[in-house]
Amino acid sequence: MTKRLQDRIAIVVGAGSIGPGLGNGKAAAILYAREGAKVFAVDINADAVEETRQLIADEGNTCISHTADATDAKSVQGMVEACMTAFGRIDILHNNLGITEIGGPVDLPEARWDRLMDVNVKSMFLACKYVLPIMEAQGAGVVTNISSISAERYAGFPSVVYNTAKGAVKQFTQNVAMEYARKGIRANCVQPGLVDTPLVHTFKDAYPGDWDEVVRHRHAMAPMGRMGTGWDIAKAAVFLASDDAAYITGVSLPVDGGLSGIFTTPTEMPGS
Ligand SMILES: NC(=O)c1ccc[n+]([C@@H]2O[C@H](COP(=O)([O-])OP(=O)(O)OC[C@H]3O[C@@H](n4cnc5c(N)ncnc54)[C@H](O)[C@@H]3O)[C@@H](O)[C@H]2O)c1
Repeated sequence: MTKRLQDRIAIVVGAGSIGPGLGNGKAAAILYAREGAKVFAVDINADAVEETRQLIADEGNTCISHTADATDAKSVQGMVEACMTAFGRIDILHNNLGITEIGGPVDLPEARWDRLMDVNVKSMFLACKYVLPIMEAQGAGVVTNISSISAERYAGFPSVVYNTAKGAVKQFTQNVAMEYARKGIRANCVQPGLVDTPLVHTFKDAYPGDWDEVVRHRHAMAPMGRMGTGWDIAKAAVFLASDDAAYITGVSLPVDGGLSGIFTTPTEMPGS
């Protein structure tokens, strides 16, 4: 490990995993720590974020876990204050939150539209609202937001609010990047393709068909012949947070095994 993030302070919002195994946020928190960062891991689920903290501590690295609701302004303010009290600065803000909803505008209930937009977009707005002034005062900082290749095009089944939200994350990130480009702050998106995370497998019980077939199909869809892993997404985030990406801001980086480079046929599969 080259310790590309030695002694940097990284807040990871959504650092737990929704189920057993390794999600994108958990992997990012672990990898930031392996690269030398001190991690402030945040999640609404106290047990999930404690598990991440323990994994990082078991590797001899530094992590503080914190419970907060990233859709609530007071809670986010408290999260940022707690990080500043603990570490005194914030170098990296990693906004990982994202839930999914299947459906088009007619069948999707209004309350579920609102909830998804709050979790997937407002959480990133609130975190930036309270972290950017700190980064501006430091004259340095990096924001990395997790979008999706669904920000770019239809995924083959109706998921109107998810795709809309991921497009919003992309545009939000670009606005932050442009506004803060001369203030030492960079902001970029990672756009995962199909990733084999616990989040995807939450659809298993509701899926009427053969779930193993769905998983095989998801692997086969990517030109590289496999779904990504949380590590694939985390490695891209580490790169964007590091000085190797010092001249990169405002980009949306697909990490998708080539998926965004090909035509795909419509599919019933959830979870992209
Ligand atoms: N898996 C894929 O195929 C895929 C594809 C494209 C994009 N993505 C994106 O990756 C991200 C998900 O990554 P993951 O694997 O870490 O997901 P995950 O669901 O396993 O982890 C997200 C964490 O966020 C927490 N959380 C939810 N609501 C919260 C709130 N209000 N406040 C604080 N914490 C909250 C959850 O408790 C959970 O631990 C999302 O942005 C998703 O859209 C995933």
